[in-house]
Amino acid sequence: MFSIDTYQRRRAALRETADSGVALFLGHRESPFNYAANCYPFRQDSSFLYFFGLNEPDLAAIIDFDEGREYLFGNDITIDDIVWMGEQPSIAAKAASVGIGESFPYATLPDMLGKIRQSGRTIHFLPPYRGETSIDLFRLLGIHPDEQKEKASVALIKAVVRLRSVKEEQEIAQIERALETTCLMHTYVMRHARAGMAEQELTDAIERIALSNGGTVSFPVILSINGQTLHNHRHDNTLQNGHLLLTDAGAETAAGYAGDITRTVPVSGRFDERQRTVYEIVLQANQKVAETCRPEVPFLEVHLAAARIIADGLIRMGLMKGKADDAVDAGAHVLFFPHGIGHMMGLDVHDMESLGEQYTGYGDDIQRSRRFGLSNLRMGRRLKEGFVVTDEPGIYFIPALIDQWEGERKFRDFINYEALKPFRNFGGIRIEDDLLITGEGCRVLGKTIPKTVDEIENTMRHE
Ligand code: GLY
Ligand code: MN
Repeated sequence: MFSIDTYQRRRAALRETADSGVALFLGHRESPFNYAANCYPFRQDSSFLYFFGLNEPDLAAIIDFDEGREYLFGNDITIDDIVWMGEQPSIAAKAASVGIGESFPYATLPDMLGKIRQSGRTIHFLPPYRGETSIDLFRLLGIHPDEQKEKASVALIKAVVRLRSVKEEQEIAQIERALETTCLMHTYVMRHARAGMAEQELTDAIERIALSNGGTVSFPVILSINGQTLHNHRHDNTLQNGHLLLTDAGAETAAGYAGDITRTVPVSGRFDERQRTVYEIVLQANQKVAETCRPEVPFLEVHLAAARIIADGLIRMGLMKGKADDAVDAGAHVLFFPHGIGHMMGLDVHDMESLGEQYTGYGDDIQRSRRFGLSNLRMGRRLKEGFVVTDEPGIYFIPALIDQWEGERKFRDFINYEALKPFRNFGGIRIEDDLLITGEGCRVLGKTIPKTVDEIENTMRHE
């Protein structure tokens, strides 16, 4: 948790930018995985954490924009709770610890919201993404879960996105702490990956590193020799020499801040010639992103710059043909690079994605493109100083997608389907860093994690 002052300042900033009415913030409930008392590890909602800092279940808060008052709702624990879970501060003490002077039992929340509604004032809320929160919103505001996303407050979403997008120095420090652990996770994989090993062994080991460094993983580990599957959470393969191993994994600090790094390494410790050629193209695209990111540049342009490098490299390899610019304009590179160049990162690994891509990833001046290849980009908006974004180009050989496109005779002017045949078992390469947008450009956050061919091979040097 940060200082009281941090949470007071953030709420004051929200009050200044927001509309009239009140904002209702629902913290998370416990989420059971097989019976009520046996729950998934608790994770607080990130906007609740951002404004109220309290990382525990069954809390709610109201910020009254008209009267400038703030209330925390939660229950003092009973003797039964003390027997099972130990002592805890009172709800009043918890409220005071984040600078809130007025706290009430949770059961009084419906009554207060009822009075606010009767007085005709607006109750702003953020779009829910968990079933438990939807049920609470239904009970408290009478809005059916099917209508909650559409009835969520655009004014509140925009105000929250404006604040959370620009990271404070202490937030950057948290992200760098997450990246310190993330670096240990990735260097572990480089040092220990060996032919004959199960993917699961490495997955378990890097989850343990995240936990033993005081946090957890910021998303389920992606670690696979089938790196062409973008989010591959299966870990049931055995590593063989000749395979590439893609690891997309990050730690989350106890305060909730994420790291998100991808490295792709050869199981044998040495890239073969073909792997090295493709790797160098992805690396060049990754470096191009870092050279291009600076305030006011649309992330869409950054994505396109990386896509051109990828298309150009694949043309040089003979896998694509024509001009890189034309291929990217047409969207032909999407066969190899079917995702966006990155996303915001902070308290969520895809920061604020639950608030809606049209607000976090785009703005009033840059809308999501309908063009093939750009229509599924998560983020295209102009960068600003203080944003943290990922830089994650990749080249993938996805047999089912190649077959589909070839069957549809798609982009035959740009894709050399014949030359692709020997690449069906190649897998995929992604390289991902986390960037802080600075006044002049950007800075790669965290410790250096081996990334060039030489750095990776030297780290993996097998005796
Ligand atoms: N690291 C997972 C993702 O960016 O989607
Ligand atoms: Mn990512």
